[in-house]
Amino acid sequence: MTVTVPVPLGARSYDIRIGEGLLPRAGAEIAPLLRRRRLAVVTEATVAAQHLPALEAALAAARIEAPTLVLDAGEGTKSWPVLERTVEWLIAAQVNRDDLVLAFGGGVIGDLAGFAAAILRRGVGLVQMPTTLLAQVDSSVGGKTGINSPQGKNLVGAFHQPRLVLADTALLGTLSPRDFRAGYAEVAKYGLLGDAGFFVWLEANASALAAGDPDARLHAVRRSCEMKAAIVVRDETEQGERALLNLGHTFGHALEAATHYSDRLLHGEAVAIGCALAFDLSARLGLCPQEAPSRVAAHFAAMGMRHRLADIPGPLPDAPGLVALMGQDKKVRDSRLAFVLARDIGDAFVARDVDLAMVERLLAEALAARAG
Ligand SMILES: NC(=O)c1ccc[n+]([C@@H]2O[C@H](COP(=O)([O-])OP(=O)(O)OC[C@H]3O[C@@H](n4cnc5c(N)ncnc54)[C@H](O)[C@@H]3O)[C@@H](O)[C@H]2O)c1
Repeated sequence: MTVTVPVPLGARSYDIRIGEGLLPRAGAEIAPLLRRRRLAVVTEATVAAQHLPALEAALAAARIEAPTLVLDAGEGTKSWPVLERTVEWLIAAQVNRDDLVLAFGGGVIGDLAGFAAAILRRGVGLVQMPTTLLAQVDSSVGGKTGINSPQGKNLVGAFHQPRLVLADTALLGTLSPRDFRAGYAEVAKYGLLGDAGFFVWLEANASALAAGDPDARLHAVRRSCEMKAAIVVRDETEQGERALLNLGHTFGHALEAATHYSDRLLHGEAVAIGCALAFDLSARLGLCPQEAPSRVAAHFAAMGMRHRLADIPGPLPDAPGLVALMGQDKKVRDSRLAFVLARDIGDAFVARDVDLAMVERLLAEALAARAG
């Protein structure tokens, strides 16, 4: 079964199509958007090894010519040198204003190819075919594209909405369990930030989701996309409400910086730990019921996810060091740290005047638990 989640953004409106078996139908799905039977595919080596032949067959079946650039897998690809290489390759491949770029990969490829499409000839069309759970529920939707700077993550980029998102949930079957769990953190985040009923559903069904149940996967990706789409439609360029999607990210980005964006801690793992810390902080501030943080931690533990500082291997900075890293996060406004906190599971809000001494105490205790 395939479901469609519309993203109504006026002239930039598009559909998110979700379901098993969309990859073999990709040519037919994309053809109506093409002015000529040609598009440029940007992908990476791991995805290409597993799934590029199926994409090529699908495009060939619709008589779509598809020059393809296969980049290295990994976060290092979201960089200036690879962006330059990609844009120059797209120019050499004679991609015109009327053509489309097809981003076929996880969040790394979606962000990089999306940004290349945004700046090529002042903007060419983009189709996102997300291949990771994280990309299907988060990064392929909403139009944020970009690369990392040597000075920090996602510091260079543009809003560039795709013309179509095709999320074939069957592709999740080849993800490593670790990458699947990291993406699952973003799924759980939607329940935690705005839909308590969805979180209850996840508590009951997430193990089926992890085991590969197609209906559970479809429902989880669909509900996540519906929530992201609704927020993006109300606040496309993150002037307000869209910041709720950053639940767990202020802590998470500090932890990613502390582990040098390495394999020690994946983005989704940092988000899970960050969500757990955000609920701990909310409970300490008397904002949410005391049992909420334990419920979050119990669910993450049941899913085998990293959810405590103790789960991060290797050395970490001390609590003031971590707070300083939060200060470098791009979500700093007027020298104040923005935290997404919660009144309960499913009821998050943006807080701008959080007592940083309290944050530091929380982190110091979490670090001490790690040492002990
Ligand atoms: N633009 C946004 O709104 C947004 C939102 C969240 C995250 N992000 C960005 O997304 C990136 C993380 O995304 P990600 O977790 O998808 O990372 P990723 O693209 O690096 O993919 C994770 C791993 O899975 C592999 N992989 C991808 N698809 C596969 C498949 N179907 N089968 C087997 N292996 C597969 C990749 O090769 C890689 O090793 C970060 O750079 C983050 O900043 C962007």
